[in-house]
Amino acid sequence: MTHKKIKLTESVSGKEKEIELPVLESTAGADIIDIRPIHAELGYFTFDPGFVSTASCESKITYIDGGRGLLKYRGYPIEQLAEQSNFAEVCYLLFYGDLPDRRQLDEFNQSLVRHSHLDEDTMAALLNCFGRERHPMAMLMAAVSHLAALYHDETAVHDPQYRERAAHRLIAKMATITAWLLCHRNGRPLRQRNPALSYTEGFLQMAFGKFDGKASLRKTFVDAMDLILILHADHEQNASTSTVRLSGSTETNPYAALVAGIASLWGPAHGGANEAVIRMLEDIVESGESLEYYIDRARDKNDHFRLMGFGHRVYKNYDPRAKIIRQTCHNLLSELDVGGDNQPLLETARRLETIALEDDYFISRKLYPNVDFYSGIILNTMGLPRDMFTVIFALARTIGWISHWNEMMADKHTRIGRPRQLYTGRCERAFTPIDER
Ligand code: CMC
Repeated sequence: MTHKKIKLTESVSGKEKEIELPVLESTAGADIIDIRPIHAELGYFTFDPGFVSTASCESKITYIDGGRGLLKYRGYPIEQLAEQSNFAEVCYLLFYGDLPDRRQLDEFNQSLVRHSHLDEDTMAALLNCFGRERHPMAMLMAAVSHLAALYHDETAVHDPQYRERAAHRLIAKMATITAWLLCHRNGRPLRQRNPALSYTEGFLQMAFGKFDGKASLRKTFVDAMDLILILHADHEQNASTSTVRLSGSTETNPYAALVAGIASLWGPAHGGANEAVIRMLEDIVESGESLEYYIDRARDKNDHFRLMGFGHRVYKNYDPRAKIIRQTCHNLLSELDVGGDNQPLLETARRLETIALEDDYFISRKLYPNVDFYSGIILNTMGLPRDMFTVIFALARTIGWISHWNEMMADKHTRIGRPRQLYTGRCERAFTPIDER
């Protein structure tokens, strides 16, 4: 239901034409001008590079208020979910729209255990084609492509049961694939998930093997990983989710749509930032240059260097995920009392955080440490190789991607995504044969 309208007047050579644009009311956040009449009635397209002010779809999954630093999944504040929930419960919430009761959660967890199975020999053969040292994000795409081949059925994407099964399968199998990527890197055997363990603990055990250390430390690791998964689970129409929606709008199968999302996530401006943070900190430590030198470079418009893990398209106050994870990061560092090789890197991170938060350039542009500044440090402290960090992000974001894909496929208004362009190339050229040029 809409009550507001925006009037738009076209003025050409003194002739005026006025049209009315309906305003679509959001339940929270900015209302949206329905611009479809602009093309239908005036023949214009609209221009918005980077989709800075364009809503591409209607969604009920996640709400962000960047100005106030708010993030909600299905209406629940991220702070409450981070403190009182666990990742499996958050997956259920994001996909189905409500928190599960005990029976629903048990059934969901059992389904995730059932669907976690993958054939060890097939996966070992696939991963061996890459060798051990290649980037695991490329191997992740190959492994999910393998699922796209196994479960390809483009006629089924309109069937809610197929979509639900695809969601369970992807959430479950992504944990197995992610863990096995680490086993492949470390030359360890590929093992199936222990059904007695929670999703996150089961994932860590597949990845690292049985934990031999103190029980309290095991809990700290499981809790930190669960928190990282919850905080990265969804983030409305970010680049990779929009990629999944765009490719899914062609009615390709969901596994193939996810491969597209993983490719989009890989870039350092998006999910690759957590890896880029550690690479940047290592470069700073190894260079022997002062931190001020790097801050100056970040300020310099002629230098491509940016402080990785700082800034966000949507959050212009603070990243609420960063606020939550910052505390976990500091707790983990003090509990582990990490020193040795990691110490200069962590010290650099602490100093960088302090300097950037007090620097005019960063303050005036509202650039704060984002979630990936801290998740990179936590994952590094947990002993994961840095090129695995974005794979962990992909594991977490799988539920967001598949929930958005499901929402889009269930929406009868969905059409194939097909943006327009402002053409500025040449027109009306006559072809000349190659020997006459
Ligand atoms: N270091 C230095 N300057 C920066 C940075 C940075 N990390 N980020 C933005 N700026 C400057 C930018 O140069 C511009 O300055 P000016 O107004 O003088 O031209 C201003 O801040 C606005 O930046 P923008 O490029 O218009 O912002 P954007 O919304 O297009 O980009 C971003 C957002 C996240 C891609 C960018 O801040 C960035 O590259 N950050 C580093 C990479 C990073 O940490 N990405 C992870 C984001 S969180 C995980 C996720 O959700 O994907």
